[in-house]
Amino acid sequence: MQVQNEGVAAGTTASGHEDSGVENDYDQDNDAHHVIQPQLDTYEASTDTDEGYADSDASSFLSSILSDVRRGVEIEGRLYPSFGKHDYGMPIDEKELDRNDLQHHKYFLLLKERLFVAPIPSSQLSSGNTRILDLGTGTGIWAMDMADAYPTASILGVDIAATQPPFVPPNCTFEIDDVEEDWPYRAAHFDFVHGRDLMTAVRDWPRLMAQAYAHLKPGGWIQLCSTIPGALSDDESIPPDSGYVESGRLYFEIAERMGAPLDAPKAWARQMKDAGFENVQDEVYKLPMGPWPRSKRLRTVGRMEQIMILDGGFEAYMLRGYTQVLGGRAEDLTVMLERAKREVRDPSVHTYVQYWITYAMKPFER
Ligand SMILES: C[S@@+](CC[C@H](N)C(=O)[O-])C[C@H]1O[C@@H](n2cnc3c(N)ncnc32)[C@H](O)[C@@H]1O
Repeated sequence: MQVQNEGVAAGTTASGHEDSGVENDYDQDNDAHHVIQPQLDTYEASTDTDEGYADSDASSFLSSILSDVRRGVEIEGRLYPSFGKHDYGMPIDEKELDRNDLQHHKYFLLLKERLFVAPIPSSQLSSGNTRILDLGTGTGIWAMDMADAYPTASILGVDIAATQPPFVPPNCTFEIDDVEEDWPYRAAHFDFVHGRDLMTAVRDWPRLMAQAYAHLKPGGWIQLCSTIPGALSDDESIPPDSGYVESGRLYFEIAERMGAPLDAPKAWARQMKDAGFENVQDEVYKLPMGPWPRSKRLRTVGRMEQIMILDGGFEAYMLRGYTQVLGGRAEDLTVMLERAKREVRDPSVHTYVQYWITYAMKPFER
């Protein structure tokens, strides 16, 4: 395991936006009903007419999925996805999408302006035939930055929620799909499979890794990234009856009961080895809470983390689970989180969480 290994060669954003003119060529040669283009304009067009869907059963099946995807479920004033095999613990409304975009900028800065850390040769990402898959793409911000950075690569972002923008780089495509179901792609198809912040989204990591392995080309890479939200401190500045620690403990309990434990990243390396991957590496970064670090870059990261948490991050993580999994009342959660937020604002409390990245390569055929 590497902790804050800053030396690994990795991707950065491109300085300019270039149109590659490259067409996306994802091979949807099975289960077409499983894959839905998320742009709302497309939905409206395809539900108004049967054009392209001669079979009326298929058409009504599609309409019902489309309406499920669009509707979502409202819980305590927040919107959650209604599509997918399992309940996802976090919202998908505008407030959450803004939070996701802030997270993206925070991680980019934390990684010293890199979009990923796996040591993927740039020739592999610019071969003209490069395909990249982003699991649980959210607002698609990572996928779109990758598309700009690697204009000859084709980037596919998949999500159970249609939260991606309609106007995207020409080499970036979004689809609605549940990554816990069978993946509808060809074997040995992708050069890079990426997944970030999929807590309470994925239950079966070994299955996801086995699917990534099958759908990666030999020599292709997987990188998974996630915050593990337990508060840590190196100077014992966490108060003994910490509300922040208590809310973290409850969040771990919620996720455990949902079947999606928050410390899952600690097993990723072993699971990737078991799946057959090579060059498996953990990199663990300290993600400060608040502007307490000495380094200017990390102070900015800490400030972003603090804003994210104070401006709805705690609630995004915990509201659904606290009320539906633990059976608690939203008002009680608010009171507990207020106590936690006081610590988050307190400059004498120096906490951080771990940002865990694990990457690995599918071996070349021997
Ligand atoms: C916290 S967001 C992270 C978004 C993005 N990966 C990022 O880092 O910017 C998690 C995303 O995973 C999606 N998601 C949850 N469960 C999923 C599943 N089973 N299959 C596909 N996407 C899923 C959610 O809808 C949400 O957009």
